[in-house]
Amino acid sequence: MNSELLLMFTLGCDRAYLYAHPERELTPEEQSRYEAALAERTRGVPAQYITGHQEFWGMDLIVSPAVLIPRPETEHVIEAVRELAGVARVGGQACPERSRRECPPHTIRIADVGTGSGCIALALARELPDAEIHATDISAAALEVARANAARHQLESRIQFHQTDLLAGLKPDFDFIVSNPPYVGESEEDQVQLEVRKFEPRVAVFAGPKGIEVITRLISQAQAALRPGGWLVMEISGTISEEVRGLLDGWEEVRIAPDLQGIPRVARARKPRG
Ligand SMILES: C[S@@+](CC[C@H](N)C(=O)[O-])C[C@H]1O[C@@H](n2cnc3c(N)ncnc32)[C@H](O)[C@@H]1O
Repeated sequence: MNSELLLMFTLGCDRAYLYAHPERELTPEEQSRYEAALAERTRGVPAQYITGHQEFWGMDLIVSPAVLIPRPETEHVIEAVRELAGVARVGGQACPERSRRECPPHTIRIADVGTGSGCIALALARELPDAEIHATDISAAALEVARANAARHQLESRIQFHQTDLLAGLKPDFDFIVSNPPYVGESEEDQVQLEVRKFEPRVAVFAGPKGIEVITRLISQAQAALRPGGWLVMEISGTISEEVRGLLDGWEEVRIAPDLQGIPRVARARKPRG
C-alpha cells in the first residue's frame, strides 16, 4: 500500500490510473523521485509527511512535521459535537440545548484547543455553518499549517486562530470546548510507535510525565470558559479514561464513548447550569 501510495504521489495520479496503465514506465527523473520517497519511508518517515497530505472528514488536508497527522478516531469528536449541537436548531442556528424554550436563538461559539492541522476546527466549520469558531495552538508552526488548510477549503473567514496556551486570553462563554489534546505520558514513551516518537511533534503527543497533565489544566480552564450548560468534548486514551472521569466529577451528563476498536476515546461533559 505504501509503495502504491508513493507511486501515485510521484506520478501525481490516482489508483485507477495506476491499474489502467500497467505498461507505463517511469522516466529516469520519476524513478529517482520515487526512490527518494521510498527511502524516506524506509527510514520510518510517515507516508503522510512524505506526500504532505492526509484526509480527514472527507477533506484533503496539508500536513507537515509541524503537526500531528489527523487520525480517523478523531472523527468521533466531530460526530459527538454534531450530535450535541444538532439536537435542536433554532432559526437555522445549531443549538446545544434540547428545547427551544431552554435555548433562545444565538450563534453557537466553539473553541478547538490544540488545533494542529486544523482538522477539528475545519470539520466543525463545515458541519455548523453558523457557528463562531476559534482555534488555538501553542505552536506557531502548527497554526501556519492550520491557516493554510482553512484557506485551501475556503474556510478562513470562518475560523479565528490564536497562538496561546490552551484557552488563555479568549473571551469566555463558549457553547463548546473541543479538543484532541496531547495525552500520552512520558513514562509510557517506550510503548509509543517508533514512527510517532521519532517524527510527530513531541508537543502534540506528550502531555507530561503521566499523560493527564494537559487535560487537567484544560478541564479547569474549560470550567471557566464555558457558558452554563455548555459542553466539553475531548479525545482521550484508554489509559487515562478513569482519571479523566474523576476530573469531571461535578460536571453533568459525563460520558466516555469508545472508538471502533472499543477503546474509551471521546469524553463529553456538560457544565452545570445551576
Ligand atoms: C494531539 S495534537 C491534535 C492536533 C489536531 N487537533 C488533531 O486532532 O489532529 C495536540 C495539539 O495541541 C497543541 N498543544 C500542546 N500543548 C498545548 C497548549 N498548552 N496550548 C495549546 N495547544 C497545545 C500541539 O501543538 C498540537 O498541535
